[in-house]
Amino acid sequence: MTDTTQRIVITGITGGIAAATARKLVESGHDVIVSARDHDKLDAAITEIGEGVTGHVMDVTDAESVAAFFEAVGPFDHLVTPAASAMFAPLREMDFEAARKLIETKQWGQMLCVYEGAKRISDKGSITLFSGTVTQKPLAGATAFAAAGAATEAAARIWAFELAPVRVNTIVPGIIKTPIWGNLMPEDAATATLDATAEALPVGRVGRPEDIALGVEFLIGNGFVNGHALVIDGGHRLV
Ligand SMILES: NC(=O)c1ccc[n+]([C@@H]2O[C@H](COP(=O)([O-])OP(=O)(O)OC[C@H]3O[C@@H](n4cnc5c(N)ncnc54)[C@H](OP(=O)(O)O)[C@@H]3O)[C@@H](O)[C@H]2O)c1
Repeated sequence: MTDTTQRIVITGITGGIAAATARKLVESGHDVIVSARDHDKLDAAITEIGEGVTGHVMDVTDAESVAAFFEAVGPFDHLVTPAASAMFAPLREMDFEAARKLIETKQWGQMLCVYEGAKRISDKGSITLFSGTVTQKPLAGATAFAAAGAATEAAARIWAFELAPVRVNTIVPGIIKTPIWGNLMPEDAATATLDATAEALPVGRVGRPEDIALGVEFLIGNGFVNGHALVIDGGHRLV
């Protein structure tokens, strides 16, 4: 460990964005502590990333599990919270159980992690939350995503005051190719959606998890960025 090594907590290591972020931060020489709901998946993800990563099981919807996770982590510098479930349904066909789960993981879960994490985070540290461009660009079927994301962006600005001097920012991802798409729809529909989006975007491709990892590293490293919602969407808002 060097003087510049930071202890960075990332939730949901089995996810595409979390895994790329963990790899990036380990490459940069940091100590990364991760979570997953399932013990075997946690071990497999840690083994795959290799040295520099440790982890504990956590379900972000379970307050006791979140408290136990942060107790096991101890003092740390930065918190990054991409863990969340996913669902799409237009309002007339709403799957209320799946929508509640999304809000419980993405909004409530991030809040529980911030609540417990704030007890042990360094005064020089930062928190990076996750919303999505559906908070700014309407997309049929994305009600629960947009609601949870908008609530998170708004809460982040409040926490930037309440938790000061800890900085609190939100990443607002556009369409990023991760396992989320295979979970939302059949594989061929996911591929068709991603291909059509790539064609429509000014940059000519959809996002990679590594694009988001670069954003996380920036928000962690720049001590003057605070209360900010960083859109990383290849210009999706413009088309
Ligand atoms: N990819 C995109 O296009 C996109 C766009 C906009 C916003 N985002 C947001 O960016 C963040 C990361 O997205 P991603 O694409 O990397 O997602 P992903 O690949 O689907 O990964 C989601 C992760 O969340 C974990 N998770 C789900 N429910 C959980 C719970 N109750 N407790 C703990 N962990 C739980 C999953 O773990 P399991 O393996 O246990 O299921 C998985 O590791 C999310 O907030 C997502 O909404 C993504």
